[in-house]
Amino acid sequence: MEHANMEYAKMSKEQLSELLSEQYVTFNRYKNLELSYDLTRGKPCRDQLDLSNDMVSRKYLKGFNSISNQEVRNYGVLDGIPEAKQLMAEMMGVGTDEIVVCGNSSLNLMYDMLVRFMLFGTGGNGSSGGSEPWTKQGKIKWLCPVPGYDRHFLVTEKLGFEMINVPLTGDGPDMDLVEELVKDPAVKGMWMVPKYSNPTGEVFSDAKIRRLAAMKTAAPDFRIMCDDAYTVHFLGDAPAKQLNLLDACKEAGNPERVFLFGSTSKITFPGSGISAVCGSIANIKYLLSYLTVQTIGYDKINQLRHARFLKDYKGIIAHMKRHAEILRPKFAAVDKILTNELEGLGILTWTHPDGGYFISIDTLPGCASAVVAKAKECGVKFTPAGSTYPRKNDPEDRNIRIAPTLPPPEELEAAIKILCVCVKICSIEKLLAE
Ligand SMILES: Cc1ncc(COP(=O)(O)O)c(C=O)c1O
Repeated sequence: MEHANMEYAKMSKEQLSELLSEQYVTFNRYKNLELSYDLTRGKPCRDQLDLSNDMVSRKYLKGFNSISNQEVRNYGVLDGIPEAKQLMAEMMGVGTDEIVVCGNSSLNLMYDMLVRFMLFGTGGNGSSGGSEPWTKQGKIKWLCPVPGYDRHFLVTEKLGFEMINVPLTGDGPDMDLVEELVKDPAVKGMWMVPKYSNPTGEVFSDAKIRRLAAMKTAAPDFRIMCDDAYTVHFLGDAPAKQLNLLDACKEAGNPERVFLFGSTSKITFPGSGISAVCGSIANIKYLLSYLTVQTIGYDKINQLRHARFLKDYKGIIAHMKRHAEILRPKFAAVDKILTNELEGLGILTWTHPDGGYFISIDTLPGCASAVVAKAKECGVKFTPAGSTYPRKNDPEDRNIRIAPTLPPPEELEAAIKILCVCVKICSIEKLLAE
């Protein structure tokens, strides 16, 4: 067809109708294949998991004592064994006195932290004040950079916070808006994924990190939950360099403002990794005063084998290069298909991340749910439209998160081709209805 690469909005209704019939022929062909592909969650694929198989062999558990001579098979050590603290502190860019190494999930640490604030307040340590439990402070409002991570939003939804959308701009949140919103004392904090954000892949600029650290907040107990889940998850040669938010907060005189979180979930084994929470020395003291009641200690055997297997920051980066080699072709394949099929048509934009686990796409307004539903008819499951927004409500119904990591290349490529057909169909149907 001659107008194949023309912007859809510039086509006549006749041209659009003709194109729609063509696309339905392709769509029905796919539908008849009775495929069953799942691109819903950002999980590592089997080849990635295999990179860490050695870690669970006896090789890394010859001897059960940590470098501090602590017997890891028994109770003891609340804040993590020294070699695991050293490893995770290097990765998170903090001092070993600013970290606690914990169990298998950083999300769990975030949930617990917010529940702690609700029940006991933020501790009132250092300069921050605000020891009053949040449950006694009325309505809690929470800033949610969007599009974002669905599980963050589920936590703050469950706790009854009023979530406020703050658009991401490509290098972090709209800071003018953030600085305006934090003048409200009911705004107690925000989520953020500073590097290779889920799902946009963006890296917050140092300028925005500085503004987050220095801005005046009406709430003295304002807290940033900084989830650095993808800090070493690059697709190129090395992770993006970025100012550490804890350093920036210390420099700005707000050391208690932030807790940083991270884990080895997508370095070794999701669900069987080790996690870490970092903060100022006062914040760590606050945290340990509650953790000591919650648990006798975390899984030190797992901490020990992680420390021995990954060794140090250089070891982590070498390991992440092997992940990148597996993932790079998958991300490139998605980008290539989207470019071949949709570039110049004015119906889809997509991200070109240098790291992380996702490609984020934006359809024409009002089309995302229809695209996901249409793909499902062909047996391809994408993360439900709306999931990247609080309360699963994308006000413009535009965003879909693509997770290219798990499926084998052939499945991924077929799924993205099907996605393209569905985007074309739904866009044309919308334009024809206007
Ligand atoms: C931004 C972000 N944070 C946290 C997690 C989960 O981390 P963990 O396995 O340490 O609980 C994920 C998993 O997809 C994620 O995307």
